[in-house]
Amino acid sequence: MTKVLVINGPNLNLLGEREPEVYGKVTLESINSEMTKLSKELDISLEFFQSNHEGEIVDKIGEARKSCKAIIINPAAYTHTSVAIRDAITACSLPVVEVHLSNIYSREEFRHKSLTAPACKGQISGFGLESYLLALRAVKKIV
Ligand code: DQA
Repeated sequence: MTKVLVINGPNLNLLGEREPEVYGKVTLESINSEMTKLSKELDISLEFFQSNHEGEIVDKIGEARKSCKAIIINPAAYTHTSVAIRDAITACSLPVVEVHLSNIYSREEFRHKSLTAPACKGQISGFGLESYLLALRAVKKIV
């Protein structure tokens, strides 16, 4: 079965409580459970990983090279700052889909630039929980 790694970056463990006017009331647990439901239909197995630490995310991307066929990642704030995560994405040579709950292009200017997206196959931004489900469908098409 195709295995896909789902990575969530800093502060996404706080979804549900964190800025609900921006991110909605959805929790990371419910995102993961909706993804799990869809993954069964698509015959994909998922591994979930959340970290608030850049180096841990870099390590996880590196490890996925051996065990996974693709990665779905919401790098959160690291989207806009992390050359290390961008380089890890390039180095792993897996197809990677970047997702965001909010539309980063309709928010503050510093969020308009994604350092990580150019290293990815594509980016989905602005659809809340649905961004993750769309990413999973995209992964199914490309692996
Ligand atoms: C986010 C957007 C980022 O700008 C922000 O730092 C996040 C969440 C999103 O999913 O909309 O933490 O990645």
